[in-house]
Amino acid sequence: MMDDYFDLIIKHFNVVTLENQMKPDHLAPRQRGGEYNFSTADNMINELLLNDILIHGHTLVWHNQTHSWMTEGTPAQVRDNLVNYINTVMAHYKGKVFSWDVVNEAVMERINPGEQNNSWKTQLRTESGWYKALGADFIELAFRTAREADPDVELYYNDYHLNNQRKAIVVANMVKDINDRYKREGNERNLIDGVGMQGHYSLTVNIDDVRNTIQRFVDIGVKVVISELDIETRNAWGTNSGPRKDTPMTQQEQKQQAVVYAQLFKLFKEYSEFIPRITLWGLDDENSWKSFGNPCLWDGDLNPKQSFFAVLNPNRTKGL
Ligand code: XIL
Repeated sequence: MMDDYFDLIIKHFNVVTLENQMKPDHLAPRQRGGEYNFSTADNMINELLLNDILIHGHTLVWHNQTHSWMTEGTPAQVRDNLVNYINTVMAHYKGKVFSWDVVNEAVMERINPGEQNNSWKTQLRTESGWYKALGADFIELAFRTAREADPDVELYYNDYHLNNQRKAIVVANMVKDINDRYKREGNERNLIDGVGMQGHYSLTVNIDDVRNTIQRFVDIGVKVVISELDIETRNAWGTNSGPRKDTPMTQQEQKQQAVVYAQLFKLFKEYSEFIPRITLWGLDDENSWKSFGNPCLWDGDLNPKQSFFAVLNPNRTKGL
């Protein structure tokens, strides 16, 4: 790990999520029956743990960055793949990882408003290999397997665009349904401990929507994590996606971004009792996956931006 980055991390943070290195395409065997590849993630994690940084695991069950063999075969084989993968990875990281994203991005991108009141099971991402093989049940199966694999870690459902109320309602219904069923079996705790709101926002994010979603999850009794926060100032998708596409920000962009970061952190502070973790997706604008949008708190030379100071002191937006 590069020294400058490492120094910045241990100075400012107490929890780290690896951006890619704990995803299934990094950890799982490339072919069925092959070897797991833990060493890259292990090297990073061990160094972080030595510096008293906690590790959040991201992510176990996802439709992206997952080898195709894992979701191929009969339903019974895919079920075995899911259970074995979770058991192997969680056993490997027992005592090192304090919380896991168990299922990532399982809910449909655009909820059909007419169908919003149907069961959450009709609102899942049908192109997911896990869904295709196992139907909606893969979600509860993943969480139950994870709970048994390591009862000491916190289990999260993680997704993006949860500021969209339609999507937030579906996720809340899903989490509540699964948790209610688990509790009816006599368990005192939740099965899904919390929801991760990724927080890949733009300058036009509606803060009231973010508030409503946090409140919605608080109301069903789960924790809320801001799991992948970045605020793009220009659209960094499509041909503009990926690192090293950053260009200097205008003064206006700097100010606008700092104001949005401040507004969000004011809100997060109000709800701090329910928000155990806020994770930024990337440190600096040059290496961010959305570098074209300059979404981070540090610029490409690792200088803190106005947004950094806005996060430190979100109530002082005068002068911005
Ligand atoms: C992104 C990484 O930042 C990129 O480097 C990678 O090429 C693709 O994945 N939701 C998630 C994250 O849960 O894992 C994604 O991370 C961003 C969207």
